[in-house]
Amino acid sequence: MRPFGRIRKREDSANKDNRNLINQQVPDHIAIIMDGNGRWAKARGLPRIAGHHSGMLAMRDVVRACDDLGIKYLTLYSFSTENWKRPRQEIEYLWRLVDEFFALDILELVERNVRITILGDTTELPNATQATVNRALQMTASNTGLRLQFALNYGSRKEILEGVQSIARMVAEGSLRLEEINEEVFSHSLATKGIPDPDLLIRTSGDQRISNFLLWQIAYTELYFVEEMWPEFKRRHLEDAIHAYNARERRFGGLK
Ligand code: IPE
Ligand code: IPE
Ligand code: MG
Repeated sequence: MRPFGRIRKREDSANKDNRNLINQQVPDHIAIIMDGNGRWAKARGLPRIAGHHSGMLAMRDVVRACDDLGIKYLTLYSFSTENWKRPRQEIEYLWRLVDEFFALDILELVERNVRITILGDTTELPNATQATVNRALQMTASNTGLRLQFALNYGSRKEILEGVQSIARMVAEGSLRLEEINEEVFSHSLATKGIPDPDLLIRTSGDQRISNFLLWQIAYTELYFVEEMWPEFKRRHLEDAIHAYNARERRFGGLK
């Protein structure tokens, strides 16, 4: 694997990379369903894990691009609660990739002032992976730039049920009244508490479904589906998505 070269200054790259996005409004929060690694590999006669490795490289570039563009929140669907149904070897490789990504990229992310957070239950991950993840969380905890959220062993229905349980517990204990449960209280019970809902959700690889990702949070998110497999998704595809986002009219149920 190619180690990092010199890290470009944020201002230099921002000037260069914003070229195609003049007069465009950059969304605050982009969420991505990074799909199609397996199909990308299969089309090339490679094992699925080769697709995951290429997917990790694509992810690294998209993180850099989002940081350069001044995106405030980036949420990446990395492993779903349903992905445990896959063969053990594939799952083990995915954890190794998490280790590899954090080991190689953490210093650049620290330098970029990126703050890493996790959605999902990491206690079910292998111990070594948990340690790597926890280290990344600690090393970036006080950073104030791009908030990079990895949905890792994340499922939206599980998140919602856990939120319901925590609210029911408060009601049972008497610290919350039934009438006080509103959208704000409920949002606060979710793993995404304090984070604005995604403005733009991108899914690669042609499938047009949500696959248990941020079901509550995407009520008014703009959905954008592309045919490219995730390993093929480059900075220019991200810019295309932002252009498409700018052409949309968000009404939130109101009138123009
Ligand atoms: C997305 O690519 C990565 C994960 C779900 C971990 P896939 O592995 O789902 O690739 P396809 O959809 O089988 O092509
Ligand atoms: C969604 O992709 C999960 C991630 C990208 C991590 P899947 O490949 O698991 O979704 P389905 O099975 O096609 O719906
Ligand atoms: Mg898939």
